[in-house]
Amino acid sequence: MLILGIETSCDETAIALVRDGHEVRVNKIFSQIPIHAQYGGVVPELASRNHLLKINILLKNTLEEINVTLEEVDGIAVTSGPGLVGSLLIGVSTAKALSYVFRKPLIGVNHLEGHLYANYLEHQEIAFPFLGAVFSGGHTSLIRVDDHHSYQIIGQTRDDAVGEAFDKVAKLLGLGYPGGPAVEKLAQEGDETRYQLPRPRFKTGCPLDFSFSGLKTAVMNVTRKEPDYNPADLAASFQKTAVDVLLERIRGALRQEKLSVVVLGGGVIANRYLRERLQRQVAEAGGRLYFPSRHYCTDNAAMIASLGYFRLRGGFKSDLSLNAFANMPIGESF
Ligand code: KG4
Ligand code: ZN
Repeated sequence: MLILGIETSCDETAIALVRDGHEVRVNKIFSQIPIHAQYGGVVPELASRNHLLKINILLKNTLEEINVTLEEVDGIAVTSGPGLVGSLLIGVSTAKALSYVFRKPLIGVNHLEGHLYANYLEHQEIAFPFLGAVFSGGHTSLIRVDDHHSYQIIGQTRDDAVGEAFDKVAKLLGLGYPGGPAVEKLAQEGDETRYQLPRPRFKTGCPLDFSFSGLKTAVMNVTRKEPDYNPADLAASFQKTAVDVLLERIRGALRQEKLSVVVLGGGVIANRYLRERLQRQVAEAGGRLYFPSRHYCTDNAAMIASLGYFRLRGGFKSDLSLNAFANMPIGESF
């Protein structure tokens, strides 16, 4: 089954063709990073306008690359949320038009679920149940996954997402956008024990929840109160503290849910320091860890096509009333 995937939830216009949920035939991405970098973050109006400018040419190039026509495609999967509504709508409208004209099944999918399915592109052997962890620019979620399309959120952030914290700290340190890779690079030269930064402790509610706004504020306070602060040491101390929190929650979630398999997804998973520490932690506990190659961690349409395949196989289809949603809990799509 050949699925066309379309992803426009934020600042990447992406189209892919994937066979049977894992065989990536084409994976095209037009990144708008240079367009938004000068503003220090994503400008929603510019994002939707640039998706509109690029999507048709990207589609043409995708099909031409392997000499396939839309008649030969078995389904059209598109991210319908969560994300920037104006951006999502470009992908959703394109997918609806193609589905109508070529009479192909339309599959609206959840972007967060897509990040987990990036793993199926390279690891078809993943067995249920597992702990899914999505660490991205918009989300920090721990999910118990018992089967395809069967999710239960067991922990999430109460304020900033972890990727957002990396981006904000990068801004404070004058490193530009996107912040994650820049903080990771600078941290390599720093002493991670130099600054003692706070970790969230919750007295009420879910103990597996996250909070990153206190950590970001603590970094800001150092930059304001210590004019001679060392940026590399501060980046390293921030990264260590954020990763300590992620690791601690994953340990707690595995214990609580009696799980041993962890499946990671989202842009922050591209962070090598996080991957290495997590690999050690899960191996020591005798568990199994899966994560996508770095280029499948950040937003792409191959993961959307993979998820679309599994949803279509499971009997899920959308109709032409499909809409875009800024907020969409994992497990929900239309
Ligand atoms: O998954 P993604 O591409 O988009 C969303 O769905 O949000 O994630 C983007 C986020 C950004 O916050 C970016 O700074 C972060 O992932 N990121 C990283 C790294 N690469 C990307 N964070 C830490 N270390 C990295 N190497
Ligand atoms: Zn994403």
